[in-house]
Amino acid sequence: MIIADLQDTLEGAYLALPIHGDGGKLMLATGTRLTKNVIRALRSRGYTKVVIRKSLVPNLKPSNPISHRTRLQTETALDQAANRLLTGQSPDLKQVFEAVDAIIADLWSNSGMSRGIVSIQTYDRNTYTHSINVCVLSIAIGDTLGWPLNKLRELGTAALLHDIGKILIPVDLLNKPGPLTNEEYGLMKTHCEKGWEILCECFNACEYVARGALEHHERLDGSGYPRGLTARDISDIGKITAVADVYDAMTADRPHRKAIFPETVYTHMNKCKGVLLDTAAVDALFSRVALYPTGTILSLWGGYIAVVTGQDPRSNRRPLVRIIGGPGITKPIDLALYSRPDIKINLLLKDYVPDGNRVIAGGLENVSSSSDS
Ligand SMILES: [Fe+2]
Repeated sequence: MIIADLQDTLEGAYLALPIHGDGGKLMLATGTRLTKNVIRALRSRGYTKVVIRKSLVPNLKPSNPISHRTRLQTETALDQAANRLLTGQSPDLKQVFEAVDAIIADLWSNSGMSRGIVSIQTYDRNTYTHSINVCVLSIAIGDTLGWPLNKLRELGTAALLHDIGKILIPVDLLNKPGPLTNEEYGLMKTHCEKGWEILCECFNACEYVARGALEHHERLDGSGYPRGLTARDISDIGKITAVADVYDAMTADRPHRKAIFPETVYTHMNKCKGVLLDTAAVDALFSRVALYPTGTILSLWGGYIAVVTGQDPRSNRRPLVRIIGGPGITKPIDLALYSRPDIKINLLLKDYVPDGNRVIAGGLENVSSSSDS
């Protein structure tokens, strides 16, 4: 809900709190729809503000590639693995395998992975969000490259556990705001070999899983760590998890910096193709991942504000949007940005939460819009 100035643009909005008149007598109940007459009547009685329900895009359903249940199942699997390792117990991989199977099943059934664009939300992150996102992105890359199910399972497991070595890195260091000292960076880099050791010794994991942990910071030209391997010695799983890891790291808020603008990430990762990152894996990623996930709030050139309402099969860089504020905007306008190359995306507005609890423009509940999509 938001507090809004009582003006004509609120026509069609719904009251989130009741309005009481003299003596506390109920005048308008919660859920009352504001009409021109109601607004006029309230203003004539001296009311200047109302609390209204706010949903920037009432029908918006942010698309998650995996269900809430699968995400919870995966978090639980990772949590038990980490806790058992930290208390000297031997975790078994069964729970992790089952979680990976659930992720693959969700990707195939929920989002039609073999056809569609994977839209990953990057807000509300917790400890395991990065690992789960890297898993989802890696599987999407493997799928695009035509990997069969058994290989997608191996890839997904490796990707899910790629940072498991971080359980042996001090939490203060992991969450340190600001740049790391050389010594701290050196310690941080040990998470690859720590992960490899954990997976080989404690999990009894197959080598392919452990190589995800060991090689996801290796780079094709040998400039990566921990071993400085070059292209021919890095496994396919290492190359794919590296691409997924870089993408998710760049597009997420970190303790020391904000998320990097998706178009910048796209340009940067494409520049790294064949030098640092595997070309086929980068191409596969950008053929499948939505640069602007559904629910993202965008600032467009010209001062317009829009929310991403869906993905356009024609381009994962030019989503379907609803313009909800800006010069001359009195009612929302739906657009397919693919059809409007003249409209540039300027930046992301993180301050506007995707579930739409902030006001941008008035009267957005009763959406009647033109669309070229
Ligand atoms: Fe890592």
